[in-house]
Amino acid sequence: KVVAVIMVGGPTKGTRFRPLSFNTPKPLFPLAGQPMVHHHISACKRISNLARIFLIGFYEEREFTLYVSSISNELKVPVRYLKEDKPHGSAGGLYYFRDIIIEDSPSHIFLLNCDVCCSFPLPDMLEAHQKYSGMGTMLVIKVSAESANQFGELVADPATKELLHYIEKPETFVSDLINCGVYVFTPEIFTAIQGVFTNREDRANLLRVSSFESLQSVTRTSLPTDFVRLDQDILSPLAGKKLLYTYETTDFWEQIKTPGMSLKCSALYLSQYQFTSPHLLATGDGSRNASIIGDVYIHPSAKVHPTAKIGPNVSVSANVRVGAGVRLISCIILDDVEIQENAVVMHSIIGWKSSLGRWSRVQADGDYNTKLGITILGEAVTVEDEVVVTNCIVLPNKIINGSVQEEIIL
Ligand code: GDD
Repeated sequence: KVVAVIMVGGPTKGTRFRPLSFNTPKPLFPLAGQPMVHHHISACKRISNLARIFLIGFYEEREFTLYVSSISNELKVPVRYLKEDKPHGSAGGLYYFRDIIIEDSPSHIFLLNCDVCCSFPLPDMLEAHQKYSGMGTMLVIKVSAESANQFGELVADPATKELLHYIEKPETFVSDLINCGVYVFTPEIFTAIQGVFTNREDRANLLRVSSFESLQSVTRTSLPTDFVRLDQDILSPLAGKKLLYTYETTDFWEQIKTPGMSLKCSALYLSQYQFTSPHLLATGDGSRNASIIGDVYIHPSAKVHPTAKIGPNVSVSANVRVGAGVRLISCIILDDVEIQENAVVMHSIIGWKSSLGRWSRVQADGDYNTKLGITILGEAVTVEDEVVVTNCIVLPNKIINGSVQEEIIL
């Protein structure tokens, strides 16, 4: 049997995702019309002998209750949310729930970071892992040398694929091969995490018998004793010990820390639907339906006027109303938004219950890597008729009655 664990973090993480994370936990923010974590869960469904999926985080339980029960029913696989009382780190969180995770005596445990977007080649990873016969195999990818320092950089043996060297977000360049935040482990991972605790206790005892002065300086700077990071505390020390191996993907992979990246990842998932879920992509026949260009998702409850023109890379959520002559390009329109006649939305995310007036424009230059590269309207923002909003972030409940550019509207 195999189980999968998805680390979803909590409200104190994901702060760069504001204002979109104000009322929806980031893992449930829709990409290509489905909650972020839905893409992980449906990838896990492709693993044979999958017994269960756990989401581990420190968000309030009620925020996940509805989602977890509906996805369990839809995909016919038990999905359960396990709430930490406080953050324990990426490995500490896993360890905290070890008894529940190994209840079914799984031979393998997948561990996935929630804030990554990828094709999740999990069955291929498992096959490679069984061939290497180590304790764990991690998904890795080559990125540009300039961007590598935002991730865990690593060196692997080109022939055996063994992880030889691992360093988390180094200041000086080590390698353009990076950690994707997707792993498969044998249950021995729990012994390795236990080893970190034992080491820490031994060190603390050693310090206790040395000077009081140095003990004080250590306790001031060190992390809580039950906080274990998978990267620094496990991967780095265990590299080069024939325990950890790498599986390189040549498919798409991105990290989702900012709203801009969610727009880019929405495009990646929409284009993946062509192969995995073509029924989710909108088709327009040009007469009864709106004109559709490229990959577009439209929720069945949305009402779109037949003269609207939509795409590429557009996701339209539940109960959205799109008026006559509206043009939507590269955007995410969240639940209950109203877009009136002849409005244009381009490179933007429109928050829940917002309303855009006639002939208004909400737009940006579409540079996903800069803070104001896409326009974001928080929940219940009103843009009045003929107003143009360019490269802005607008916090919830604002009324915009004059054109604005390059501004954060608080
Ligand atoms: N449940 C829980 N509890 N989840 C956590 C906790 C915690 O205490 N801390 C982090 N997470 C979750 C986050 O939500 C995220 O999905 C994942 O664990 C990793 O988060 P971080 O530890 O903050 O690391 P990171 O995202 O900056 O970088 C990691 O992922 C990169 C790939 O996206 C590292 O492993 C990098 O090496 C890697 O390149």
